[in-house]
Amino acid sequence: MKIKIGLLGLGTVGTGVYKLITSRGGHIRESTGVYPEIKKILVKNLNKPRKVKVEGLLTQNAEEILKDKEIKIVIEAIGGISPAYEYVKEALSSGKHVITANKELMAKHGEDLNETAKKNGVFLKCEASVGGAIPILHQIDRLKITDEIDFVGGIVNGTTNYILTQMSTKGKSYEEALKEAQQLGYAEANPDYDVKGFDSLYKLIILMRKVFNVNVPVNSIRRSGIDGIAREDLDYITEWGYKLKLFAWGKKIENGVFAGVEPVLVEESNILSRVNDVNNAVILKGDSFGEYVFVGKGAGELPTGDAVVADLIDILLNYNIKDNDAAKLLPVRQGSFTDTFY
Ligand code: NAP
Ligand code: HSE
Repeated sequence: MKIKIGLLGLGTVGTGVYKLITSRGGHIRESTGVYPEIKKILVKNLNKPRKVKVEGLLTQNAEEILKDKEIKIVIEAIGGISPAYEYVKEALSSGKHVITANKELMAKHGEDLNETAKKNGVFLKCEASVGGAIPILHQIDRLKITDEIDFVGGIVNGTTNYILTQMSTKGKSYEEALKEAQQLGYAEANPDYDVKGFDSLYKLIILMRKVFNVNVPVNSIRRSGIDGIAREDLDYITEWGYKLKLFAWGKKIENGVFAGVEPVLVEESNILSRVNDVNNAVILKGDSFGEYVFVGKGAGELPTGDAVVADLIDILLNYNIKDNDAAKLLPVRQGSFTDTFY
């Protein structure tokens, strides 16, 4: 059986998703029984050179995806709030499953979109929105079944970690390191989101929603970034035996949560000091498992694409049960064994 997918965006994330779905479709079918096929891709500029062969697939008209009844899954990788919010809302409302990599969208509108998904009996998944390739949301779902998690935190922005690492270990300037992070596809379209701590804040809100079942308003958390950090500051910090990391954290307290995003000094003996470049680390503390530190690539084409595909596989594994059309495509034949085979 085949399932048709509409991809919104063919930038860093969209390209990674496209590469993985087209090159690993056979493997996905072997494990899920369903072959994923990208039917249309929404982009802004039809004439832009692309890294992948997509003849006949590109469109500038979102309705060609959203109104297409054959498309059952929409993958959103355009970023920002509008029109991403409207597209995701329409897709969910018309019974399509949605996978998004958009942390800003999920941080600001996750509650409403989750509700829409629930009302329409479809999946809304966002593993790629936090921690890049680290399967942290999947893992939290599992741990929550048996554990009381009271702390979630870590390094959740690849761009800032890359900048800080390059400045302190390679002697690069802030501007030079930021430019490289942009060229490598790590930074947001507006890199202020990374360096001023917004991106970490959005990810923290998604993590806290998952871990603590709370919806925290974006402006209720204190945030500072790394935009004021100079090379000389990092030289002193290194000399004192520390590393600087942009840290996002949320802790359960008696009547709520205590949370923040800020640069912190970590001792060289601390595991976080060895999480460098684009890598992210997410720490969880729970009453049975104690403490976990999950480390992996926090941004980039294939690591992020892989997290999107993990959500896709999850949906496909449940597809036969959840989707009425799929049930129609796999009718149970009536009759005897011999009727079928002879
Ligand atoms: P990007 O490279 O800037 O790509 C954005 C894509 O969306 C482009 O293909 C662009 O079309 C298309 N697009 C943007 N606005 C559009 C509109 N109004 N209508 C139609 N198409 C539109 O961005 P990205 O880095 O892939 O990030 C996409 C999302 O994933 C963001 O939410 C980001 O936060 C998230 N994310 C990124 C990473 C990463 O490593 N980069 C990791 C995790 C999550 P054109 O190509 O024609 O310009
Ligand atoms: N700009 C983000 C980062 C992309 O650097 O972490 C991954 O979410």
